Amino acid sequence: MTVAVFGSINTDVNAYLDRLPKPGETLHGSGYKIGLGGKGANQAVAVRKLGSDVKFVCRIGPDIFGDTAINEIASYGVTTDLVLRDPNGSTGLALINVGADGENAISLIGGSNMTLDETDVARSKTALENAKILLLQMEVPFAASLAAARVAKAGGATVILDPAPAPKKPYPREVYDAVDVLTPNELETGSLVGWQPQNKEEGLKAAAELNAMGVKIAIVKLGAKGVCVRGLSWEGFIPPFKVTPIDTVAAGDSFNGGLAYALEQDMPLQQAVRFAAACGALSTTKKGAAAAAPLFSEVEKLLRA
Ligand code: RIB
Repeated sequence: MTVAVFGSINTDVNAYLDRLPKPGETLHGSGYKIGLGGKGANQAVAVRKLGSDVKFVCRIGPDIFGDTAINEIASYGVTTDLVLRDPNGSTGLALINVGADGENAISLIGGSNMTLDETDVARSKTALENAKILLLQMEVPFAASLAAARVAKAGGATVILDPAPAPKKPYPREVYDAVDVLTPNELETGSLVGWQPQNKEEGLKAAAELNAMGVKIAIVKLGAKGVCVRGLSWEGFIPPFKVTPIDTVAAGDSFNGGLAYALEQDMPLQQAVRFAAACGALSTTKKGAAAAAPLFSEVEKLLRA
């Protein structure tokens, strides 16, 4: 049994600045980093760095960014046989400004990510059917993700959807029927319930509203304010881990990778969300996206501190 990830892969170009630039402004930065990104790839690498096998379904283009991206995911041990090289496509690209406080602003060119469709579900059917956990995000066409969710669920998988980037309007009920766990941050929660939670009490209230809409396990990520959970087996709050963030890019992806790993290992929900929160926190202490995901030993250390 493995974790399957159906989603995006990008080349990230990160610029490190004292603060984010204003419209029309040119700012000198202190440095840059080019590396593997995309919410799907980041989640796949996060799971793999913790120790589980990962099947990653994605599309890249016939360009140098695609060469680099596929080499980088392979270097982490993520299986690449379901990475499709689209001869007419272009590898996804993210231009990311990171401020001194670790906050970021991302411009995304989806490229080949935006061409995923039912043929990708068909070519990855065996991997989806055999997955114990399926991870989904919102950087590829949603119809394809939903089809992947249905195949994986029919095979018995737990389906985790990270609604990032935020959907423009609430999901219809059929989405929640195909998904087991939803992991929005404050902004994404706002898109789904109509208001943005600002603290623990509001996070729990928003999670309850998501349950009422049909979400089986609602995990509302409040970043440095902690995580609010309402599920069938447990509801409660996981306080934030105290770390010094330098780059928050992909913290949510590390969280979801950690959650998938923990659930694949049969951790109970409360323990799994605490494990995931530690993964998310640790990823903010390193630069980059996929590269910043923690190793299992680093997570264990933080959980014991
Ligand atoms: O979640 C972070 C990711 O969002 C980055 O790696 C970037 O590629 C964008 O997809």
